[in-house]
Amino acid sequence: MSPKAKKIISNKNLNLDKYPDGKSQNLRKAISKAYKCNSEKIICGAGSDEVIQMLCQLFLNPKDEVVVPEYSFLMYRIYSKIVGAKVAFAKEINFKVSVNEILKKITKKTRIVFIANPNNPTGTYLTKKEVLELRKRLNKKILLVIDDAYAEYMKNKDYSSGLDLFKNKDNVFILRTFSKMFGLASLRVGWGYGSKKNC
Ligand SMILES: Cc1ncc(COP(=O)(O)O)c(C=O)c1O
Repeated sequence: MSPKAKKIISNKNLNLDKYPDGKSQNLRKAISKAYKCNSEKIICGAGSDEVIQMLCQLFLNPKDEVVVPEYSFLMYRIYSKIVGAKVAFAKEINFKVSVNEILKKITKKTRIVFIANPNNPTGTYLTKKEVLELRKRLNKKILLVIDDAYAEYMKNKDYSSGLDLFKNKDNVFILRTFSKMFGLASLRVGWGYGSKKNC
């Protein structure tokens, strides 16, 4: 955690007896300024975990299908299953997400494809070209969720974050978190960025 953040948390006269603003107005404004994006398209949650849960509750009905890479963050499959959706696992090649293998798992019932880029637990990533190819070849009606939890760690020139690539796409939903790069996991601050009608 940055010493500056630590100081603010310990010095500030926090009003812990008050419920927080459910719409996270100040935080959304600050995020939109820092990431140059529209505050009305941001939704905040108790970690991006909660945003994944909300997405599953919002988009999925029992018997709908979700595609996740075989080695991927467990919460995608857990929250999908809780709402009764079927989870299809796309093979990875050398522990890397494969666009072709994801597309092989798509059916008429597929509603969401989840990927983390870079991926947890494998640490591999899809290049900008590969992510754009995935969105292009995927049916427009299927929501592509790109989890940017570790985006700030990437320095590779052939990589672009989901947020950088798809700020204006309604059929892509981006997940972000303060837990990793900012070392603030215990504060449970995550956010999602997507179509205004979803946020
Ligand atoms: C890929 C990925 N997404 C999301 C999360 C959840 O992060 P948080 O709920 O702390 O924002 C994690 C945590 O390990 C993760 O690895």
